[in-house]
Amino acid sequence: MPTRGLAAIDQSDVRSAYRRWAPVYDHTFGKFVEAAARTVTARANCFSGRLLEAGVGTGLALPHYGPNLGVTGIDLSPDMLERARERVSKRGQGNVEALLEMDAMALEFADASFDVAVAMFVMTVVPDPARVMHELARVTKPGGKVLICNHFSVEDGFRGAVERRLSRYAARLGWRPEFPVETVLVSDRLELVSRTPVKPFGFFTLLEFRRLT
Ligand SMILES: C[S@@+](CC[C@H](N)C(=O)[O-])C[C@H]1O[C@@H](n2cnc3c(N)ncnc32)[C@H](O)[C@@H]1O
Repeated sequence: MPTRGLAAIDQSDVRSAYRRWAPVYDHTFGKFVEAAARTVTARANCFSGRLLEAGVGTGLALPHYGPNLGVTGIDLSPDMLERARERVSKRGQGNVEALLEMDAMALEFADASFDVAVAMFVMTVVPDPARVMHELARVTKPGGKVLICNHFSVEDGFRGAVERRLSRYAARLGWRPEFPVETVLVSDRLELVSRTPVKPFGFFTLLEFRRLT
């Protein structure tokens, strides 16, 4: 059941949107999010152990994770994953342990499997963001970190008006322009530790959570 008040997107919207995006993603949206992805991986590299990247896409961030992290990437879109696999096979990235087709709303991992869980530019796209937050909390070890980087909408001003207008096209766009931060503040097992605006122009926000015991 999608989170109430959010534009409806289902798994087939996501798969078909990212089938279209996959061939051009790295040269379009990928360029726009590059700096933010670097900020997130730099933060993730402060930790060590097993890292899950949910919605890994074409694997843009994969080259930036340090050797202290063993990385598992999952994504719903086989077309995006194919690009991620090509990237890893070209670069020979030994710290990428697995790239799996999987739904972030129903992770096929045991509880407390990862030290760090990351989702970048994914939460506005998933059919049920609250369920993803609960799943990320479940698979992260107590004391571990969950890093969410996303665009969160504002109520007021010109930007708020544009986001509200665009919202009716959410299924076609494959993401939700109108997306308040409260949508991801849903798990009582996750403590919000910091909230940092990131480039470009603070358009994205990096939320860092600690998994409570
Ligand atoms: C905007 S892209 C971001 C990709 C990547 N994180 C990056 O930084 O470039 C969003 C990705 O989330 C994936 N996605 C959407 N819903 C998903 C779900 N329920 N489970 C797993 N991946 C999902 C899409 O297939 C797509 O690859």
